[in-house]
Amino acid sequence: MITSNKQQSNEEGIETNLRPKNFEEYVGQENAKKNLKVLIEAAKKRKESIDHVLIFGPPGLGKTTLAHIIAGEMGAGIKITSGPAIERVGDLGSILTNLNDGDVLFVDEIHRLNKTVEEVLYPAMEDGKLDIILGKGPSARTIQLDLPKFTIIGATTRLGMLSAPLRNRFGALLRLNFYDEKEIQKIIQRSAKILKTKINNPGCEMVAACSRKTPRIANRLLKRVRDFSEISEVEEANQEIVKKSLEILEIDELGLEPVDREILRMMIEKFDGGPVGVQTIAAAISEEVQTIEDVYEPFLLQIGMLERTSRGRKVTRRAYDHLKIPLSE
Ligand SMILES: Nc1ncnc2c1ncn2[C@@H]1O[C@H](COP(=O)(O)OP(=O)(O)OP(=O)(O)O)[C@@H](O)[C@H]1O
Ligand SMILES: [Mg+2]
Repeated sequence: MITSNKQQSNEEGIETNLRPKNFEEYVGQENAKKNLKVLIEAAKKRKESIDHVLIFGPPGLGKTTLAHIIAGEMGAGIKITSGPAIERVGDLGSILTNLNDGDVLFVDEIHRLNKTVEEVLYPAMEDGKLDIILGKGPSARTIQLDLPKFTIIGATTRLGMLSAPLRNRFGALLRLNFYDEKEIQKIIQRSAKILKTKINNPGCEMVAACSRKTPRIANRLLKRVRDFSEISEVEEANQEIVKKSLEILEIDELGLEPVDREILRMMIEKFDGGPVGVQTIAAAISEEVQTIEDVYEPFLLQIGMLERTSRGRKVTRRAYDHLKIPLSE
C-alpha cells in the first residue's frame, strides 16, 4: 500500500536520504518557511531558543523534515520522541532532564500524549520547571527542578485532538498544506538526482499527478518507477514506464488506490452516497477509523470526492463521474 505511512515502511533509510537538509532544499510551504525564518532570526539575535512550535497536517507532507531543518538552522541538538512513547510522567522527566541547553525536543504524534504526562508538560513548557512528586498519600511532597532551556516541536496529523491548554502553549502554529503539482514535480526531479535515476518531463508530470500532492508518496512512486525502468532496461523513465508502474500498483490517474475507490464505491452502493458516519465507513471496509481519517479522507476531501456534512461524509458528483457510476435521481 503506497499511502501507508512510515510505521509500515521498511524504507526509512532511503527516506532519510531524500530528506531536505535546509530551507533551500525544502520545496514549497512558503508560508510556514517565512514564519519560521523570522522566528529563528529573531531568536538568534536575542541569543535565545525559539518558541515552542506546533506543526500540523496530513501524513507525508514534511513535518518531521521541517523539525530537523529548524533544529539545524538554530544550530541546536535534536532529541526525538513521540506522544505514545512517553507513557509515564517519569519517562517525560528523564527525557527533559537529559536535554542540553538550547536543544530541540521533537514530539511526534503529540496528540497521543496521555493526560497526566500532558499536565506535567505544561509548567515545563511555560516556565522551564519540572514538578516531581515524591512519596505517596499524605506524606507526599513536590519538588521542583529547573530544566535546561529547550524548544518543543510538536507534530500532529490531528490538530483537533490536541487539548486547548496544550495547543495554547505553542508560540507558533504551522499548518502544512498539500503541495501543488509544480512543487511535487520539483521534488521528484530532486529525488531522481539523489537516487541516480532519470525521468523525462512528461513522465515526471504523470508521477506528480498521481502523488496525492504528497512528497512521501511522490518519492515512493518514483522508486517503483525506477525499479521498472531498470527491469525494462530504459535509460530514462517515460510516460509508458510510469503508466505501467501505476497499473501494477493499481493507482489511477488521480492517484487513487484500491482502498480509496472501495470507500467511494461502498458509500454509493450501500448508502446511496451518504451521509455516512466515519465509524460506519471504517466497519464496512474493515479499516481503522484513524486510518480513514488520517490517510484516506483528507485527500478525498481535498480533491472534492467527498464532502463533510454535520451528519457524516457524502460522496460528491465528481466521485460518481470518476467511478463511472450514473447518478440516480
Ligand atoms: N518540502 C519538501 N521538499 C522535498 N521533500 C520533502 C518535503 N517534505 C517532505 N519531503 C519528503 O517526504 C518525506 C516525508 O516527509 P516527512 O517524514 O517529513 O513527513 P511527515 O509530515 O513527518 O509525515 P508523518 O505524518 O507520516 O510523520 C521526506 O523523507 C522527504 O523526502
Ligand atoms: Mg513525521
